[in-house]
Amino acid sequence: SGGNTPATPTAPVELGAAADVPVGGAKLYRERKLIVSCPAEGQYKAFSAQCTHAGCVLDKIDEGEGNCPCHGSRFDVSTGKVLRGPADRPLPEVPVRAENGRLVAG
Ligand code: FES
Repeated sequence: SGGNTPATPTAPVELGAAADVPVGGAKLYRERKLIVSCPAEGQYKAFSAQCTHAGCVLDKIDEGEGNCPCHGSRFDVSTGKVLRGPADRPLPEVPVRAENGRLVAG
């Protein structure tokens, strides 16, 4: 009772080549339940890809919006903010960094 299930990984996870995330865009790591966006060259932000409504994992990103397949919530993948409900809380941000060209989250 009470509290939210933590959505963030408990240990750092390697996501692969930083170059896989397009500059000015974002990439969904569905199996890791993470989204990484790259607002500018060499800058990365990561968010949980687990919907804050009922916990489904987002299934795709179109035009900068992460889509939840369960009830249609949409999130801005550069800020985590809700663009369309029923979700009413943003996607939690997760620390991410590039190390030797590889992204490490958590
Ligand atoms: Fe994502 Fe309901 S779980 S909209």
